Amino acid sequence: MTQIDKVLKNHDTSIKPIWIMRQAGRYLPEFREIRAKNPNFIKLCLNEKLSTEITLQPLKRFDLDAAIIFSDILMIPYGLNQKVEFKKGIGPILGDLNLENILNVNESDFIKKLQPVYKLVNLIKNNDLTRNKNTIGFVGAPWTLLVYMINQKSPKSGLKNNFFKDKNFIGKTLKIIEKFSKLHIKNQVESGAQIIQIFDSWASLLNEKDLPNYVYEPTIKLVEYTRSLNVPTICFPKGIKKYKDYCETVKPDAICIDYEADPKEILKDIKIPIQGGMDPKILLTDKDNLRKEAKKYLEIFKDHPYIFNLGHGVLPETDPKMMNYLVKMVKDY
Ligand code: CP3
Repeated sequence: MTQIDKVLKNHDTSIKPIWIMRQAGRYLPEFREIRAKNPNFIKLCLNEKLSTEITLQPLKRFDLDAAIIFSDILMIPYGLNQKVEFKKGIGPILGDLNLENILNVNESDFIKKLQPVYKLVNLIKNNDLTRNKNTIGFVGAPWTLLVYMINQKSPKSGLKNNFFKDKNFIGKTLKIIEKFSKLHIKNQVESGAQIIQIFDSWASLLNEKDLPNYVYEPTIKLVEYTRSLNVPTICFPKGIKKYKDYCETVKPDAICIDYEADPKEILKDIKIPIQGGMDPKILLTDKDNLRKEAKKYLEIFKDHPYIFNLGHGVLPETDPKMMNYLVKMVKDY
């Protein structure tokens, strides 16, 4: 059994495994080197030779307990033939969403388009560097995908004015997202993914009264579906205020908390395994502070099943030496 399986399945509290969201990415010079030669991000994700190399880059440097495949949550809209581009300094830009078009996408075309992602999962699962470690696949939660597909860009400065205008359109789009997310999960699992993390990066945009409709209900369907495949889920509803309600309603196998969640409150409220929490900005300070902050999470969760991670992705400005220090420290703890 892997370290992470012991925490997720046996609720072992004697070990504190570690992996990091965005562990493969721009803070690594070897990633930037490949990225500079591959200006089309989607194409890079669909090049299984390069995406395998990128996925393994952090495992060559650090003693991490899992590999998360190098891909993106926006591969689903891409698979549904919505245009997806990544613009330097801006982020993702999506084309117009046409309901007729996405209703007409068939499953085999979707799978064919995303086949390199499934090949990547298989290559990672079977690589020597992941022996006795977990291969993590992922999807965006339906709400977060809906946000990108309708808003057509990051909603950093809020959602489009008429975002909620056409409820029928929203309902139908959510159904399609659910159907193809299940297909994407199934294909990752059949290719070797042993855990599915569900990223709900924009859960915090909703009022509390809208959470059941847009966050809880669609996510429950994915959690239950993944469970039917005998694979655990880790849910990350970033910025949500009521983690307790979320866990009791959605019932994931583990919950990933963001950096604004108070770990002491979380410990009191939540019974299932917990992951993450530390602010990625701590890695931009100094080693003493990093040690102190990481220790805080390890101490608070010492008698609780806990997987060390951050409260969001590692920042591009992070010095890989700080990452090395963190991983070593958690491993020696
Ligand atoms: O190491 C890993 O965690 C695996 C790879 C991974 C990426 N994106 C690679 C990536 C994962 C798990 C994601 C998930 C993802 N993608 C989320 C959920 C997590 C979160 O950050 O909240 C979201 C919202 C996206 C959508 C997305 N993709 C955005 C907003 C951006 C641009 C801004 C940014 O933060 O980088 C991307 C591009 C992206 N996805 C990059 C990487 C390494 C950067 C690409 C580049 O080099 O320009």
